[in-house]
Amino acid sequence: MNISSFEILSLLYLIGSVTFILGLKMLSHPDSARRGNTIAAVGMGIVILGTIFLYSENGTFLSNKLLIFVALLLGTIVGTRAAKVVQMTQMPEMVSIFNGMGGACAALIGMIEIHHVQSGETSRLVAITAGLIIGTISFSGSMVAWGKLNGRFKDKTFPFQQYINIGMMLVILALGAVIIFSPNVHPSVLYIELNLCILYGILFVLPIGGADMPVVISLLNSFTGVAAACGGFLYDNKAMLTGGILVGSAGTILTILMCKAMNRSLTNVLIGSFSSNSSANTSSPNNPDEHYKEVSMNDVAVMMTYAKKVMIVPGYGLAVAQAQHSCHDLEKTLEEKGVEVRYAIHPVAGRMPGHMNVLLAEADVDYSKLLEMDDANTQFSTTDVVMILGANDVVNPAAKNDKSSPIYGMPILEVETAKNVIVNKRSMSAGYAGVSNGLFYQPKTSMLFGDAKTVLQELVNEIKHNVN
Ligand code: TAP
Repeated sequence: MNISSFEILSLLYLIGSVTFILGLKMLSHPDSARRGNTIAAVGMGIVILGTIFLYSENGTFLSNKLLIFVALLLGTIVGTRAAKVVQMTQMPEMVSIFNGMGGACAALIGMIEIHHVQSGETSRLVAITAGLIIGTISFSGSMVAWGKLNGRFKDKTFPFQQYINIGMMLVILALGAVIIFSPNVHPSVLYIELNLCILYGILFVLPIGGADMPVVISLLNSFTGVAAACGGFLYDNKAMLTGGILVGSAGTILTILMCKAMNRSLTNVLIGSFSSNSSANTSSPNNPDEHYKEVSMNDVAVMMTYAKKVMIVPGYGLAVAQAQHSCHDLEKTLEEKGVEVRYAIHPVAGRMPGHMNVLLAEADVDYSKLLEMDDANTQFSTTDVVMILGANDVVNPAAKNDKSSPIYGMPILEVETAKNVIVNKRSMSAGYAGVSNGLFYQPKTSMLFGDAKTVLQELVNEIKHNVN
């Protein structure tokens, strides 16, 4: 039996597609995530090499292999180096820049392939134009997101921005239709379209609040996936199609989940922040009519040492203070005293998806000790002490009780059902949503002010040396 190179290539694409799906599935659990990543990367390697050596058009194989391998080598060196030196906290920046490169590739495919289309090949033209538009927007948007995350660009709103953006999108779509339906369109139309898409990506991301960037990056990620899928459709390349669809759908699902966990619509994320478009209770965090109670370090040390069960609630402040290692030290110190310690993880605690999981993993905290929100909520009533470290919105009871609150409806960690609640933060300032938090004024809550890392170091010291 004679097997053609086309059939072998199709088989390799199938293998690649299966590894992408398997890899993605394995990414859903920390224990299997690394292996999943490796499996998908091996699959991608097989697909790339298969394409280089086995792809042919009218019996002619690729002739520019040397150039391709030089480019592959350069990309591998840059990518590996960047991934090795990146700090955990810079991960969203890196995702953004890599995502932008994916969008640029999809756009370049469109720019090149448009010259190879015969008149009447409408479906190919649709795939090319869609890939060009979506890929370019994803590229320039991701570059702005990268610049905003590392502080190079500031949020910038401008008059009539929503109308300008909508108008620009309509022009982009109209030009797209011209490219698809007018045979032999003048090349300048293509370049105008390209530049408009670049500009749109910039204007679309520039005004979005810095803390909403994770949602936008996830959205742009899904754009790149769709643009890559257009390339897969164009080349009839099953692996590219599967990969693109997986990235597109995973990015979309993540975007929706993040918005849901914050109880915000995507439109709200894209055109405004919690505090700017709400008239609800953003009362001064230092309301003189309300009283909060402070607690001493020694009292907290005693309370925690004699507790049976302690639940730690990490939040954005823990990440800012880089207190994850000190937090792990507290956990170990308490466990040596016979205390059961668990962590309650809210899905949007911090500022990026999985922020708390990544931080705590960096400090070698055992995954089995991290409880997801629903599990944690069933355990607070049997918890002696809840220690909130730099979290605010994710434990704000207004989300359940105050219909006028901008965070009303957001599921929260219901810490009030525990016997004692200790809140560590530096002041009575609000969190990301800009709203005051009634939890801080409840009788069973005590405030322990200070930077999370310093406080935790002092607390561990106190438990070790001053509590018997
Ligand atoms: P936040 O509500 O933002 O509150 C963080 C608290 O940490 C602040 O009140 C701050 O109070 C305190 N803090 C800051 N630096 C500190 C330090 N060095 N030591 C101790 N405390 C410190 O955080 P959260 O509860 O984690 O909630 C996350 C918020 O971000 C939610 O509203 C969520 O919707 C939003 N968000 C999340 C994501 C994702 S994907 N995670 C994406 C975008 C937006 P002081 O200034 O008084 O210290």
